[in-house]
Amino acid sequence: MILPPTREHIRTCANALASGLCVAFPTETVYGLGANALDSTAVKRIFAIKGRPSTNPLIVHLATPDEVAKCAVVESNRVAVRLERASSLWPGPLSLVLPRAPSVPLEVTAGGSTVAVRIPDHPVALELIKTAGVPVAAPSANPSNYVSPTTAQHVLDSLAGKVPLILDGGDCVVGLESTVVSLVSESVTILRPGGITCEELEDVLGERVELRKTSTSVVAPSPGLHLLHYSPRTRCVLRGTLPPSSYPAATALLSFGENSTDLEFDYQSVETLSTSGNLQEVAARLFGALRSLDKRGFELIVIDTCADEGLGLAIMDRLRRAVAQA
Ligand code: TXA
Ligand code: MG
Repeated sequence: MILPPTREHIRTCANALASGLCVAFPTETVYGLGANALDSTAVKRIFAIKGRPSTNPLIVHLATPDEVAKCAVVESNRVAVRLERASSLWPGPLSLVLPRAPSVPLEVTAGGSTVAVRIPDHPVALELIKTAGVPVAAPSANPSNYVSPTTAQHVLDSLAGKVPLILDGGDCVVGLESTVVSLVSESVTILRPGGITCEELEDVLGERVELRKTSTSVVAPSPGLHLLHYSPRTRCVLRGTLPPSSYPAATALLSFGENSTDLEFDYQSVETLSTSGNLQEVAARLFGALRSLDKRGFELIVIDTCADEGLGLAIMDRLRRAVAQA
């Protein structure tokens, strides 16, 4: 059931979380499927609902920076300084990988010695976490490997009957998942590009930030980094990678910017994400547009591309995964 975010509904959902149930809730990036991060039975429910492999760790959502101490043990001075600096970007689309505290069940970290934590920049998420009084482990609220949800309706569309409580917080303004960053590696490393750019991180950290290349192998360094992820059911290709003469008639174009009148193909439908080619707008609308095109029965979706820089890095990361179909 989709619930408007009244104080009463938030309390109902917070009570559900505290009693070990799962709740879908809005964040600024995508909707999350939350459970009490300190309750291993509750966390297992998330994996069952999503059909998620137990080898893929979850991000723990907090309401304030002091709560990091409930989930992580930061002993190294170098990591403490990085945490202090990086947390100036909170609340925001940034997940920080830190040494795991013993109180965090191994289900959350997929058996690993680190835990990812973040403070989401959404008033409903913050009120929910505060009211529940527990850290909230939450992956994106979609079946494993499908496109992440950016509205409450998207959650209902793909998890109906599996999640009784869906808090509605409107459209996600960032629209792409958080940047996942390891603060424990030798150099600070982006494990998944996202809503916070590499440049923004380097600015606050005052050190160089590395980017881990997407793995094309079956055994990825972090399972969420598998190439095959975020895939619509319809076959997708990046614009410019196939000759338009090979497109089937039922082909749609997902365009990022203004389109010239003489397109390279007579597309059955053209969806434009931002008439001015603004990447923030592209990111915010991307997953919703992919979901709606995916429902319309096209044989092929051709997707625009942008440069791998700034927010474009995260956009292209998701698109390369969307086109990497088995
Ligand atoms: O924006 C977001 O991050 C959203 C919202 C709901 O907060 N959540 C999200 O969760 O995208 P999920 O589960 O779909 O993606 C989590 C990513 C995965 O790539 C996972 O492998 C990685 O974070 N991750 C989590 N914990 C990790 C850890 N300890 N070490 C390395 N990677 C980790
Ligand atoms: Mg996900």
